[in-house]
Amino acid sequence: MGGGGREHALAWACRRDCPESTVFCLPGNAGTARIATNLPGSATDVATVVRAARDNRIDLVIVGPEGPLAAGLVDALAKEGIPVFGPTAAAARIEASKAFAKELMGRSGVPTARSRTFTELDAAERYIDAHTEPLVVKASGLAGGKGAIVCATRTEARAAARAMLAENALGKAGSEMLVEEFLEGEELSVLAITDGEHFAILPPAQDHKRLQDGDFGPNTGGMGAYCPVSVATPALLRRIADEIIAPTLSALKADGAPYRGVLYVGLMLRPDGSPAVIEFNCRFGDPEAQAILAAMPSGLVPVLRLIAEGGWMPSGISLGDARHASVTTVLAAEGYPDAPVLGAEISIPAELEATPDVLLFHAGTAQGPDGRLRVAGGRVLGVTAIAPTIAEAAQRSRVAAESIRFEGKQFRRDIGWRELARKR
Ligand code: AMP
Ligand code: GLY
Repeated sequence: MGGGGREHALAWACRRDCPESTVFCLPGNAGTARIATNLPGSATDVATVVRAARDNRIDLVIVGPEGPLAAGLVDALAKEGIPVFGPTAAAARIEASKAFAKELMGRSGVPTARSRTFTELDAAERYIDAHTEPLVVKASGLAGGKGAIVCATRTEARAAARAMLAENALGKAGSEMLVEEFLEGEELSVLAITDGEHFAILPPAQDHKRLQDGDFGPNTGGMGAYCPVSVATPALLRRIADEIIAPTLSALKADGAPYRGVLYVGLMLRPDGSPAVIEFNCRFGDPEAQAILAAMPSGLVPVLRLIAEGGWMPSGISLGDARHASVTTVLAAEGYPDAPVLGAEISIPAELEATPDVLLFHAGTAQGPDGRLRVAGGRVLGVTAIAPTIAEAAQRSRVAAESIRFEGKQFRRDIGWRELARKR
């Protein structure tokens, strides 16, 4: 379910891990159309999805994006007896309500930025005035990546709070919001596959949120990712498992909302090395999924299926070893992230499509009636390269990203720079 780069990568993983299977994507994109059957409709339209699953005798649904999860797609499919991988709406609140996630972390002792939740502007402004800069102002609800505003000054923070609470800038998503302490450090994405009780951590990844090289420019949905990440040592991952993932899953279970699916933990590694949660997501990250799935050996999809069918994770299973190093460079449209310009024709060199260590995961692409591939979204393509080292994968991904052409193409040439700096 879904139509971005993450979903193309998931469809590709289904084909790799279960070669006899038939794969459908709803709605998919021009890339998934090459390896699967695209079905019409929207992933958030629950009735359409249930009907499509029944009509096509689907025996495993994997839900990509947070919207359908928060809207109860998993609950609806499960009620029809259709195996589905992803959390229920109640469990997906861990992403869909940051206020809920903070409250749960607070009572479970999970390390995270200090914060307070507000629905009234006066109270939010008083809190902002009483705290030191910088501050982060966040919509509690789902805001499509536009909900977190890092504010260098209290003046900016007051303006962000006013936009959300008084000017309805993010609609319902921002009618409840949080003011949060700014965390210093390096970000890390740790994803765990879980049956609600047992879990296995996937190879860790690092996203690149800013538009421009060197982590400058506006925040985006993610301009690239790499996997694995050497700062995420086995000891650090054990700490994240014990101090963050296990207590979070226990609390959700105790609340009557056991979490089955993939839990994405967005972390800040503070200067003293300790991890703190920035946010939880109830799904695979995008573009992290493209890098992680390409780096992993085959074998993940049967585990997703087992969980979807209501089973427990096989005990002692490890999904954490990367087989390759991988780097994904995102190609974005002109004007992304503010106002992406759609319609440009995309040209991909034929030899690139035939290169086995470069995977092209489509995101905002569409193939018109004239057969031409065109830009149809802000993030257009993810160019994932696999290699024995991050340095080689980064080089291959960058060269391939350069060779794809469309008007106004934007991309970063430095994906994986932190890892390369560490190696130096
Ligand atoms: P989110 O929309 O929650 O993924 O946040 C987007 C980005 O804002 C994160 O990836 C961080 O780079 C930054 N961010 C969010 N919260 C904090 C925080 N408390 N301290 C520092 N940076 C943050
Ligand atoms: N790449 C960050 C996310 O998927 O939310």
